[in-house]
Amino acid sequence: MTDMEALRERLGGEKPKKAFVRSFGCQLNVSDGEKIKGLLKSAGYSFAESESDADLIILNTCAVRENAEDRVFGIVGSMKHLKDSNPGLIIGISGCMTAQKHIAEKIRKSYPQVDFVLGTSALNSLPGLLLDCMNGSKFAADTNEYTGFAEGTEQVRESSFKASVPIMFGCNNFCTYCIVPYVRGRERSRRSEDIINEVRQLAAGGYKEIMLLGQNVNSYGNDSADEISFPELLRRINAIEGDFIIRFMSSHPKDATRELLDVILGCEKVAKHLHLPVQSGSDRILAEMNRRYTVKKYLETVDYLRSRDKDFSLTTDIIVGFPNESDEDFEATVSLMKRVKYDNIYSFIYSKRTGTKAAEIDDRISDDVKSSRMRRLLEIQREIAAEHYQRFVGRRMRVLVEEPCKKRSGWLTGKSSEFIIAEFEGEPSLIGSFVEIEVIKAMNWAVEGKIIS
Ligand code: SAH
Ligand code: SF4
Ligand code: F3S
Repeated sequence: MTDMEALRERLGGEKPKKAFVRSFGCQLNVSDGEKIKGLLKSAGYSFAESESDADLIILNTCAVRENAEDRVFGIVGSMKHLKDSNPGLIIGISGCMTAQKHIAEKIRKSYPQVDFVLGTSALNSLPGLLLDCMNGSKFAADTNEYTGFAEGTEQVRESSFKASVPIMFGCNNFCTYCIVPYVRGRERSRRSEDIINEVRQLAAGGYKEIMLLGQNVNSYGNDSADEISFPELLRRINAIEGDFIIRFMSSHPKDATRELLDVILGCEKVAKHLHLPVQSGSDRILAEMNRRYTVKKYLETVDYLRSRDKDFSLTTDIIVGFPNESDEDFEATVSLMKRVKYDNIYSFIYSKRTGTKAAEIDDRISDDVKSSRMRRLLEIQREIAAEHYQRFVGRRMRVLVEEPCKKRSGWLTGKSSEFIIAEFEGEPSLIGSFVEIEVIKAMNWAVEGKIIS
């Protein structure tokens, strides 16, 4: 009998158990959370609305910055009392935090309410770990790194019209600030055949947005001699029948080839938007970060896209306060932002990660300086976006309707191909479908429009 069969039998005999899974961090981690939920559903669990009425809680964690970890420790700390009212409650921690030895050790020592930890590549061990816990094991753990994946694992997707499809796992780039290569291991690409079949099924099932995921999708297939490249994968997915939009994340600027840009520009289903994380506008800092491109090379990519499509949308990630980032380095980032005119930026204050190379640098910049740089960056971006979004005013935009607008009742929000948030009046029944709007007004976080069909 497999562990899954044993777990199913065990749960079958008892009153139905409820699970609560909460994912933090990037979309790859959210996608793992969907697989965890799929495994639990196969085992016979149903899902609880909140932690307080669950028999099993899994926190699927992120380790990319210290505040992400602190938040999880805070939540785990506050869960101690849940065990008093429900002694049968099982609490597990999965995701990137578990892959760091010192963190796994801290959980085991200081948080006795945690029953098991499940490593990022060990999802399939979940049924076995749950059985161990039910059989009274004090602390069950599987944080080994596996190279095979569970193709065909059932997933409980968060959305019925937007789907994430991981195409590869891990990262080989070792940017000096980043913990991901340590917690997610080396690059492993899924078979293109499996990816294409999955997208085909999703499209046939009515999904309207397919998000292909990898830490650096541009190196898709590099780990296997007979696999196709990422641009070719995009072409083949673009050829799948159905009305859906293709997005992907993230693209490392050092690997954004002309071929890739041409495929994005030429394939009608591929969104006219590229998330191209620049991290810094200073060549000195980029070299210290081991990013392996220069501002000049980055701008060549931007200029090529804009020369072919002047409205092409770009978003980016920026780190503020990398160790010893000078005023001059920071100003270089500001001028890069003004030059590129991003539609959106995701900016983060540098967080020191134990085990990474940058953690060894003796940083002399104060926290106050970093926070004030961050505020300035956000302010500049607000101005850029408000002005830059003007290019859409008076034009039509095709939008995938996502949810009711939080601020205005009777209004909806959605995203255009350019990844611009749009707000417009409409019926909730439109959620999950495409509408055509005319853009009336540009704000600094979104555009406002009117449905015309
Ligand atoms: N693989 C993706 C990003 C993964 S992490 C890529 O290369 O684009 C997402 C973002 O978090 C990064 O782009 C970076 O801006 C930020 N980040 C990563 N490590 C960080 C750290 N130690 N401190 C602050 N921000 C960090
Ligand atoms: Fe981290 Fe760099 Fe890999 Fe992105 S490419 S996950 S920033 S090491
Ligand atoms: Fe965080 Fe892990 Fe993603 S560290 S950003 S959840 S790969």
